[in-house]
Amino acid sequence: TWTAEAFINDAIREVRAQVGDKRVLLALSGGVDSSTLAFLLHEAIGDRLTCMFIDQGFMRKLEPERLLEIFRDRFHINVEYVDAVDRFFAQIDGVTDPEEKRRRIGHEFINVFETESQRLGPFDYLAQGTLYPDVIESANTNVDPKTGERVAVKIKSHHNVGGLPENLRFKLVEPLRKLFKDEVRNVARLLGLPEDIVRRHPFPGPGLAIRIIGEVTQERLAILREADHIVREEIRRRGSYDDFWQAFAVLLPVRTVGVMGDRRTYAYPIVLRLISSEDGMTADWSRVPYDLLEAISNRIVNEVRGVNRVVYDITSKPPGTIEWE
Ligand code: XMP
Repeated sequence: TWTAEAFINDAIREVRAQVGDKRVLLALSGGVDSSTLAFLLHEAIGDRLTCMFIDQGFMRKLEPERLLEIFRDRFHINVEYVDAVDRFFAQIDGVTDPEEKRRRIGHEFINVFETESQRLGPFDYLAQGTLYPDVIESANTNVDPKTGERVAVKIKSHHNVGGLPENLRFKLVEPLRKLFKDEVRNVARLLGLPEDIVRRHPFPGPGLAIRIIGEVTQERLAILREADHIVREEIRRRGSYDDFWQAFAVLLPVRTVGVMGDRRTYAYPIVLRLISSEDGMTADWSRVPYDLLEAISNRIVNEVRGVNRVVYDITSKPPGTIEWE
């Protein structure tokens, strides 16, 4: 029978045998897969692992700080923080089409990854948090005809990332490739990952940029980040984080009329998207208690300048999608 303990011991042995004294690069996103991979590889090869964390500027409030605090300060894992906030923003400035936003973010990710891996390298291996379901539908790897090893031609971190350039065809280290998601979580726990990472909701690679409908501006990003933070604070406060597959806010690029004191306001509406799901392929809007909706709504309207209305999305998937873009 499968146990997380036996898996970890075998994986450490296999990684050491595969990598020898070479260096390994890992693109760390803060999600459960790449985080578990980082902990596992750190056990196996210590400082010969370099994690690259590219901050695109579209993460949730306090998440970049939290990630560095855990990996670097608490667990002494080698993390290179790449501040690419301005670069990514410049790429999507004025872009309104959802797929075009994704394409540009994915493309910029490759550019930054390429530059930084050359600066930090050379690396022989690229570690990827490929899971068993990814292997089954895998079109993102090739087999090197000479050595039989899998080599990366794409990076997994985003759905829509373009191909890797020829000179970046790393050999792959994929110790999680036989695992399902729930097994990854068990491995993560045993490796000592904090519970908030182990149980983290899925978060899209392009992040908050696809939760601002249409044009992303600094003002909208700041507003959405605060509103989103309140959603999470309120569901955590009630101990209901695990009741949801995802729980987040979306900003609509329109303004509606409201009233505050004796003044008329004209500001953005925020959509709440709270859903349950098994795998993200289908999803149901969550029948949450009214008092939770009320608490979130009151706090957002009172605390976030620029928002005067909160609405609740009662569309399941299908026919809706989980994200609004
Ligand atoms: P949809 O909106 O298609 O989302 O119902 C299904 C799941 O996929 C996530 N998602 C993404 N993840 N890059 C990602 O890494 C993306 O561009 C992207 N779009 C959607 C979404 O959060 C949900 O979990």
